[in-house]
Formats: sequence, structure tokens, C-alpha cells
Amino acid sequence: MENELIPSGLKINRPEPILGEVELVSFVKETAIQDAIQALFSGRYVLIEEFYSNGLELLKELQHFLKKKHPNETFLEQREFRAEYRKLSNLILIEIRAHQLNVKKAPLIGWLEKLYPETPDFLLSFPQIQGLNSAWQWYCNGVVIPGIRDKVHPYYGVYFPTRFEHIHLFDNWLKHYQGHKKTAIDVGIGSGILSFLMVKHGFQKSFGTDVNPNAIVGLKEAMDGTKLARKIEIDYGHLFGKWEKQTELIVFNPPWLPASYDLGRLDEAIYYNEKLFPDFFEEAKNRLLPEGRVVLLFSNLGQITHLTKDHPIANELLHGGRFELDKCFKKAVKDASTKTKRNLHWRSTEVVELWVLKLK
Ligand SMILES: C[S@@+](CC[C@H](N)C(=O)[O-])C[C@H]1O[C@@H](n2cnc3c(N)ncnc32)[C@H](O)[C@@H]1O
Repeated sequence: MENELIPSGLKINRPEPILGEVELVSFVKETAIQDAIQALFSGRYVLIEEFYSNGLELLKELQHFLKKKHPNETFLEQREFRAEYRKLSNLILIEIRAHQLNVKKAPLIGWLEKLYPETPDFLLSFPQIQGLNSAWQWYCNGVVIPGIRDKVHPYYGVYFPTRFEHIHLFDNWLKHYQGHKKTAIDVGIGSGILSFLMVKHGFQKSFGTDVNPNAIVGLKEAMDGTKLARKIEIDYGHLFGKWEKQTELIVFNPPWLPASYDLGRLDEAIYYNEKLFPDFFEEAKNRLLPEGRVVLLFSNLGQITHLTKDHPIANELLHGGRFELDKCFKKAVKDASTKTKRNLHWRSTEVVELWVLKLK
């Protein structure tokens, strides 16, 4: 089935469906949990067949079992625990029939139709379904973003902010911005938040890009039939994509953490590789009008979590020879909620930053 909101050739990110014949061990209410766990350990798939909650119970028991197996709190044991849990929990499957979960008392997950228009019947793992379910809740309920009138409904697999200090910084900076407001480029547009703010503050046009196809598809869908569709144009591409023309403002809220080798899953919304910033600055130099500004949102998260001593923007200013500092604004991040169990003491020293650069 053709989906006109998905530009041709764009392959959306989604959990890979399991199709065709798979050998399965059935799990129903009466199945002994130990037998199911045994089957998982022998590498077999276990299919949840009766109630959705049976899947939740099995996951809980599996976690319990693995906690006993890896009782120590050491970093290594915890990592082994997580790796084994990830591997075994992904052998727990659930069937999708006619785009719906084929078990009783299951949540309705609209992504099953939106992301798999051509495949009504398939299998996914239970953790994947949980991920799709929570993303569907975010999408349906929407997120209130300070400074933006309408709620944002984040598309599956697209970054959206859950803390807003950097958004406040940008909104405030735009309030006092005195330059021209004809065009801007929004590199890594995500759910569109920075562009929405620029349009609110009177920019006539924003040209966005993203390397994540879901961001492009989601934003097209969100803007479809609205006035924003004429103000914000998007391109699926690296850094500046097809936007060649010079502009008065370039904004980029890049990933804030350096990618390191022992990270299992690289997420381009969160981790940057060593080429990202040098390439960005080199291209930005050619796209910026003489009086234009580059605005970057950043944080000291990489430094305070000891992932790096480097600051890619400070590095550019020191060694790049292309830009100089116009202004830098900083805002402390509020302490993490006291309800949070994890040890987030470093939050108290986290600071978000808004850097304004101009050409040398
Ligand atoms: C931290 S998110 C910011 C999203 C949005 N601008 C915001 O402020 O809410 C970074 C975004 O940049 C995108 N991205 C990462 N590397 C990129 C690249 N090389 N070219 C274009 N976009 C990129 C990611 O997919 C992600 O959507």
C-alpha cells in the first residue's frame, strides 16, 4: 500500500517484523513460568498467546531469575545482567493479526498500522511491543513544549525534549534577536521544535534537515494541511542536505554526548561522532550570510559524566579559524526529581548552553 506522506525511497525506522514460519513454544496462563524460562535459555521463541498481561508476568519473572543469577552490583555484573535480559526477553514474541495484537486485554497500538501498512500479520518481540506502546501514548497524548501553543505529537523513533531549559534559552534569545528574519536553516530538525519557535518569532521560512527518516515523515504528517507546511520545508539528509543557499540564521541542537566504542546502540539524536562538528562548521561557514549567526544548543553533560574533556564548540572557536563568539548564555538544569531512583547526583552541576557564533 502506498502512503503519500512517506516520500518514495524513504525507509522508515521500525522494529523488524518477523515473518514466515518460526518454531514457537506456546505460553498461556497455565504454563509453568519455569518451563518458559527454560525454553528461553535454550534459545527458543516463546509466544504469548492468551493475555497481554502474561507477557508482563513472564518478563518480570525473567528479570527476577536473572537478578538471582547476577546478584552483584558491580558494573560488570550489571552489564551482563542487562545483556542477558535483552537477549532473552527479545525471544518472547507476540502475534499481530490485522494490525492488532492477537491476545486478550491488549493495548491498541496505532503504529502497527502506520508503520507496517503492507504487512497486517507478523510477529514482534514483547519488549518491542512495549516500546511501540509507550511511543503511541506519547504520540496520542502529545507533549506541552514551553513557548509553543500547540502540543507536539512525537512520531515513533524521533527525539523530543523532556526537559526544557535549553528551549527557554532559545525562545528568550529569539525574543531579543534583532537581525533579518527571512530564512533560517534548522539542522537536525527532529520534532520541529526549534523551527516552530522561529516561525512564532516571525521567521518567514525555515529549512530543516534530518538523517532520521522518521523525523521527516513525522513532521510532514504533523504539518499536513496546516499553515506551517508553507513555512517549514524539510529534507532527508546529512547536515545541510539540499539547502545550499546562504541564510541569516543556522540553528543546531546537536547530540550532546560523544559516541564511545562500548556503547551498544548508537543513537544519532544523542551521540555524535568525531566528524560531526568539524563538518558542520565547515559547511555552516559557506551557508551563512556575512552578518548571519550560528546558534548551537549544548550542555556540559559529556564533561560532567566524564565521557570527554572536550567541548566541540569551544574547540571550534579555539582552533577552527572560521567563527568567533558573539554570545554564550547558560542555564542550570533543575535537580532531578526526588522520586528518581537512579543516582543522578551529577544533575545538580548540569548546565545547558546557547552559543551564538558569527563569521570571523
Ligand atoms: C538532540 S536532537 C534535536 C532535535 C530538534 N532540533 C530539537 O531541538 O528538539 C538532534 C537531531 O539531529 C539529528 N541529526 C544527528 N546527526 C545529524 C546529521 N549529521 N545531519 C542531520 N541531522 C542529524 C538527529 O536525528 C536528531 O533529530
